[in-house]
Amino acid sequence: MPVIRHIAQLGNPVLRQLALPVDNLRDASLQTLIEDMLATVAEADGVGIAAPQVYEPLRLFIVASRPNPRYPDAPSMQPTVMLNPELLWQSPETVMGWEGCLSVPGIRGLVPRSERIRVGYQEHGGGRREEELSGFLARVFQHEFDHISGLVFLDRVASNRDLVSEREYVRLMAAR
Ligand code: NI
Repeated sequence: MPVIRHIAQLGNPVLRQLALPVDNLRDASLQTLIEDMLATVAEADGVGIAAPQVYEPLRLFIVASRPNPRYPDAPSMQPTVMLNPELLWQSPETVMGWEGCLSVPGIRGLVPRSERIRVGYQEHGGGRREEELSGFLARVFQHEFDHISGLVFLDRVASNRDLVSEREYVRLMAAR
């Protein structure tokens, strides 16, 4: 049975480390880590989770967008495990969008991200994939890619004024 892992919170050094490549894709502990991360992101109503967030400084994350109480407008997709991800290209055009993070509870921020990106990653089965992402999924990828680079979304906001409490965020969204 997968285990719900404890999520590292802002201030923990593991979130500020440059994560290391995953080199043994057949490792049983990697299989366990992936299963636990899938269970943990679902339980926490996340749309993505990176290995450093569960105290494993490895270049691995899961993009698992689906509508949930934290992201009611998120598109639905099959959770995708991305190993040794690469950001191959990013559009110079950026879009602003609200982000939160399981490691930064209670805060939302308006974050500029490239609208379109081209990415590469290894699949859990070992094959390499390249694909183009846009919109919300491009945003989630960039957010998770930051996690394996020792960055959090707070580092990306244009101004501290673009940060709001979760309670104010809910109020803002209701007023839209
Ligand atoms: Ni995050």
